[in-house]
Amino acid sequence: MERKEGDKLYEFARKYMVSGGSASARWSISMKRPLYFKDGTGSKLTDYDGNEIIDMCCSHGGSIMGHKHPKVVEKIKEALDMGILCSYETKHQGELAQKICEMVPSAELCRYSCSGSEATMHAIRAARAHTGKDVIIKFEGHFHGYYDYVQYSWVPSLEEAGPYERPNAVPFSSGMPEGIKDYIIILPFNNIEILEKAIKGNKDRIAGIILEPINYNIGCVVPDKEYMEQMRKLTSDNNIVLIYDEILSAFRTGPDCAQGYLGVTPDICTIGKCVGGGTPISVIAGKKEFMENIAPLGKSTHSGTYTGHLIPVMGANAAVDEIRKPYFYEHMYKLADRLYSGMNEIFGKSRLNIKVQGLGARFGLYFDVKKDVIKEYRDCADNNIEMNLKFYELMLNKNVYFHDYGGRTCHHGFSIQHTLGDIDEVLNRIEDTVKEMEQIY
Ligand SMILES: Cc1ncc(COP(=O)(O)O)c(C=O)c1O
Repeated sequence: MERKEGDKLYEFARKYMVSGGSASARWSISMKRPLYFKDGTGSKLTDYDGNEIIDMCCSHGGSIMGHKHPKVVEKIKEALDMGILCSYETKHQGELAQKICEMVPSAELCRYSCSGSEATMHAIRAARAHTGKDVIIKFEGHFHGYYDYVQYSWVPSLEEAGPYERPNAVPFSSGMPEGIKDYIIILPFNNIEILEKAIKGNKDRIAGIILEPINYNIGCVVPDKEYMEQMRKLTSDNNIVLIYDEILSAFRTGPDCAQGYLGVTPDICTIGKCVGGGTPISVIAGKKEFMENIAPLGKSTHSGTYTGHLIPVMGANAAVDEIRKPYFYEHMYKLADRLYSGMNEIFGKSRLNIKVQGLGARFGLYFDVKKDVIKEYRDCADNNIEMNLKFYELMLNKNVYFHDYGGRTCHHGFSIQHTLGDIDEVLNRIEDTVKEMEQIY
């Protein structure tokens, strides 16, 4: 893989930008710099060295539509022609919200924001406003954004994580005030007895539970339906707002999101990534009685200069229109079946212990973990980081981009513009990579 031009760009950018990139998560360990792309078309990215790379990161989940989808481009052009209207309402914000309310079971009213972090922050505020309580339950291995109230226990080391029944709140950033910990309870996912006990002991303090209904941020963990049903009942019975953070899971399995897939409806949900067709927009959606806490109907503030900006609203209108067409999930599940069964076959034949768990358009890979099935974070906390990074490095050398996430188990995926041919090509290159790894491990 040629890399000279990218190296030059890094040398230039790092003089003016922290680590030569716009986000910490864009750092590539194997390249020792961010990747710099000059074009994205369909399923492929082209870097400044002319390498054509199959994209299995898909903007960390933000590009379900693939790159430069003609319908998204057309709608964004319409927004440009209207005057890049910022901080103003048009007819298109309401139209988008109507579509979301038609598709997503919990959505009766919507508000927009620009990122997933903002959306979950506002959802939590609305939950606190609704109940008059402060504490939020969050699960180990779940990720809800980059702010102090939720930046705990995404992928803590087992030394820091504390007892399984009552994990420590482990911050994943420095600079977080110690006292914020008082507002969060960390629990293991997928264990109803522990949840029940935590609620019983703290029900007068707990305002809400926030969770990824499909926990893609540690690969792909689908909870037991019964667990979700019981959580629903416990929250309703104890005046606790149930928040599904569907920033990553929304539209990944179907137009009704993970809540439709699981058949359990939250009070509020947050929707991001897929919805914008690659543009920066997120949605806070929920049942009226909860959403009506937001000002000016209620007293919970939610606003922002760029909130509901017309360009991403039009990108989202285009994406949602496509998502609602029957071909969309038909094609997506064909790709998913081919990819996951192909990987299972390759990994099954290898003497290396590599596993895939995937649902819909996103999946996780697990290297040398002891458990057969990953049901919660601690089942994959023994993921072999070195093997994990080696796999991604060898795949990138073969022009397939899986983001490495520092070697932590995380999520990868494909877009609607990927073809079965792309998937076969990825599988061929995975097979070669696994053979190379067998020489090393
Ligand atoms: C489930 C979930 N919630 C929240 C976020 C934060 O979203 P953003 O990066 O847009 O702030 C992410 C980002 O990956 C996410 O996966």
